[in-house]
Amino acid sequence: MIVAVDGPSASGKGTLARRLAAALDFAILDTGLLYRAVGAAVLATGGDPAEPAAAAAAARNLDLTALDPTPLRREAVGQAASVVAPIPEVRAALLDHQRRFAAAPPGGKAGAVLDGRDIGTVVCPRAEVKIFVTASAEARARRRHKELLERGEASIYARVVAEMRGRDRRDSERAAAPLRPAPDAVVLDTTEMDAEEAFQAALEIVEAKCPGLTARARTTK
Ligand code: CDP
Repeated sequence: MIVAVDGPSASGKGTLARRLAAALDFAILDTGLLYRAVGAAVLATGGDPAEPAAAAAAARNLDLTALDPTPLRREAVGQAASVVAPIPEVRAALLDHQRRFAAAPPGGKAGAVLDGRDIGTVVCPRAEVKIFVTASAEARARRRHKELLERGEASIYARVVAEMRGRDRRDSERAAAPLRPAPDAVVLDTTEMDAEEAFQAALEIVEAKCPGLTARARTTK
């Protein structure tokens, strides 16, 4: 049983995916971390993330099961991730790991939640539930700015907006697995929702697709 949660940067999909996984007692894979790890590995060697050979070599040589999320969440690493992400060899090197996780979720869990950009379209096109989380660019920039300040990173709102637009453009306009909702995805616009409202709306989407699943998860926990 697979729940695909896709969407643009700072749409709230990460938090939503984690909460869904906890509620359903499913395993969770943040696929953005994989692309971030590739970007960070290239930056660490002083390489250029836009250079396909360097990025593909980094993707092939990474141990994807042992990533430390904290340094990978830095904004500069997110930018590098969106630069390596259009490179088809990078995407191919990461695809197997994602599909294996979905097919055999670790810890013997009955299902998996995967959060990313192309889960519903490319990685798991047969996922039982597909949610495309979105929000206006301004709402997402406000959230990201707040998150960066809370983490102690320097942040200027105008720059966050500009970088977010750049990242949106790179993610949406690339030829390989561009960011877009799968035809059978339910679009969840969280512009006017807080995290709790978005979570409740997502539970309703899961329940509509798989009646009884959320109730069963609650009673078997
Ligand atoms: O947390 P945030 O939404 O800012 O970024 P992320 O989900 O960690 O992803 C970082 C970058 O990796 C994105 O901007 C995409 O370019 C890329 N990515 C992707 O191409 N495909 C995925 N399934 C996940 C991330």
